[in-house]
Amino acid sequence: MNAHQRIQRALEAAVARGESPAAPPRLGRAIRHAVFPGGARIRPQLCIAVSMACGEDDASLTDSAAAAIELLHCASLIHDDLPCFDDAATRRGVPTVHVAFGERLAVLAGDALIVAAFETLAAGAARSPCRLAALVGTIASGVGRPFGIAAGQAWECEPRCELAEYHRAKTGALFAAATMAGAQAAGADATPWRALGESLGDAYQAADDIRDVVADPEVLGKPVGRDVALDRPSIARSYGLHEAIRQFDRLVADASAAIPECPGAPYLRALVKSEATRLVPASWCTDMDRIAA
Ligand code: IPE
Ligand code: IPE
Ligand code: MG
Ligand code: MG
Repeated sequence: MNAHQRIQRALEAAVARGESPAAPPRLGRAIRHAVFPGGARIRPQLCIAVSMACGEDDASLTDSAAAAIELLHCASLIHDDLPCFDDAATRRGVPTVHVAFGERLAVLAGDALIVAAFETLAAGAARSPCRLAALVGTIASGVGRPFGIAAGQAWECEPRCELAEYHRAKTGALFAAATMAGAQAAGADATPWRALGESLGDAYQAADDIRDVVADPEVLGKPVGRDVALDRPSIARSYGLHEAIRQFDRLVADASAAIPECPGAPYLRALVKSEATRLVPASWCTDMDRIAA
């Protein structure tokens, strides 16, 4: 079974665990809308790849950690799209959860997914219970306070915020949780894997800011131009597109260089490279140079 199949199976099991004929059906449909068919699934892919690089010996724990992280990511997107945050009508090429199901069910679907993430993690730890406490701590720190997604989104409510700190919290922290949880699910030390997750997460958010300026909303599956419209801090707004792309390239190089030497390193380097090309195609740089000339 490849990583995509493992992720799909683990997410299906996680979502099905909360379903019952006796449960409110619209909430169940809103949750499925948010999780399936999904986006790039990069965070769970990273978690599985790192676990394998660390000598994975409990695949059900890895899959549960990977699914938990993706459920938390899906929850963060539901809440991020709400009218009181970014007020986005589309996500992954379809109407956002609040557009399709209403704001109350969107709030509840996000809440229920956060709870389901930690239930999923616990359910997968039957064979390796001694690894659970560290995993809970790592994954919680990616989404909570003081440095996770809740903090990142809260920086938008402050009169001032520092761009790097904001990016690290809203996106880098969950990527770092993904790489570190991969190591911990395999019973390995998480510390050497933090830098890869942080750099790749920072690169991802830099790419998201760049794509918000130059990408086609049809291809992206979500609105563009939101950072200017909402007056959000963005690497493209702070430094201009050319410099933003240069910084993105540097963050990708940092991520690649941060991969610890191990048998899984070539695979991880290839994953970082293919994601970088997917997010910011080299032609955007050439186009920019042509416009500047
Ligand atoms: C979107 O994340 C939000 C950011 C943190 C940049 P992704 O680009 O990973 O979104 P999906 O999961 O592929 O839709
Ligand atoms: C993404 O924030 C990080 C989250 C915590 C959801 P953005 O608002 O920049 O991401 P998109 O562009 O809506 O995917
Ligand atoms: Mg946002
Ligand atoms: Mg947004």
